[in-house]
Amino acid sequence: MMPHLARIEEIVAETASGDVKTFRVQFLDPETSFSHLPGQCAMVSVLGVGEAMISISSSPTRPRPLELAVKQVGRLTARLHEMEPGDVIGVRGPYGNHFPFEDMKGKDLLFIGGGIGLAPLRSLINYVLDNRGDYGKIDIIYGARSPGDLCFKRELYDVWPLAPDTRVLLTVDRGDEEWKGAVALVPHFLEQVHPEPEGKLAITCGPPIMIKFTLESLKKLGFADEQIVTTLELKMQCGIGKCGRCNIGSRYVCLDGPVFTLAQLETMPAEY
Ligand SMILES: Cc1cc2nc3c(=O)[nH]c(=O)nc-3n(C[C@H](O)[C@H](O)[C@H](O)COP(=O)(O)OP(=O)(O)OC[C@H]3O[C@@H](n4cnc5c(N)ncnc54)[C@H](O)[C@@H]3O)c2cc1C
Ligand code: FES
Repeated sequence: MMPHLARIEEIVAETASGDVKTFRVQFLDPETSFSHLPGQCAMVSVLGVGEAMISISSSPTRPRPLELAVKQVGRLTARLHEMEPGDVIGVRGPYGNHFPFEDMKGKDLLFIGGGIGLAPLRSLINYVLDNRGDYGKIDIIYGARSPGDLCFKRELYDVWPLAPDTRVLLTVDRGDEEWKGAVALVPHFLEQVHPEPEGKLAITCGPPIMIKFTLESLKKLGFADEQIVTTLELKMQCGIGKCGRCNIGSRYVCLDGPVFTLAQLETMPAEY
């Protein structure tokens, strides 16, 4: 699939250090624009540099502009971070499966995010809030290394807590003089919050180490494997099942994932 050209309309620095930025983009030719579902990704390219798989952080209920939150880690993401509104990038997609938002209807939802891992969850959170009557109570547990590393602060503080039956519970690894909230790693904080598993689905995304311990904490709290949904960020190159960069056993995360229930992951080799 060829990338389509998209213009950066706006860039929002999410973190105090600026290492995570949200890019709001519009396709130059509206005909090349695509629709997506919560949890799906796009392959983002910069001419002469390369491509990277990035989760679409906007909700399909608010389709334009497309929003991509990008953490600067290497060559491609560094080049993206140098760009300015008006610059043009390539975007192809959508890729991957999506969160099972239909099966989630009528259930209470427990979101557990860490760092930039809130990006794909944000797409689903805003989808659910835009269809609020279809879902039960919502708890959003979110953590970052420090208060300055929390992403999507406007929604965390001013939007999501005001939605009906919705709680936002924040934690940081290290506080500062102004921080009055919890100081604990996400899995420990989750155990302190101690959500009851009945009628609930847990959806988690974050760094691999956070996911590993969060899955253990959820099991300790009594969540069954079928009640836990996670999204994996294995290294990807082609996004279409051709290059073999993202396989776990015989499954390709770019085709079968990135969203899996823990019950599905338990049937796969522990290579994630
Ligand atoms: C399904 C999926 C969704 C993703 N969503 C997002 C997102 O919403 N926002 C975002 O910022 N990033 C996301 N990523 C990660 C992103 O694709 C990589 O960070 C990006 O490819 C790095 O490109 P680069 O050229 O800047 O870094 P490179 O020069 O390729 O690598 C720099 C460093 O990052 C490491 N690295 C590269 N890719 C990954 C990876 N996938 N996981 C862990 N370490 C990696 C490398 O080992 C190296 O240490 C996602 C990845 C996948 C597979
Ligand atoms: S990214 Fe190439 S096979 Fe999945």
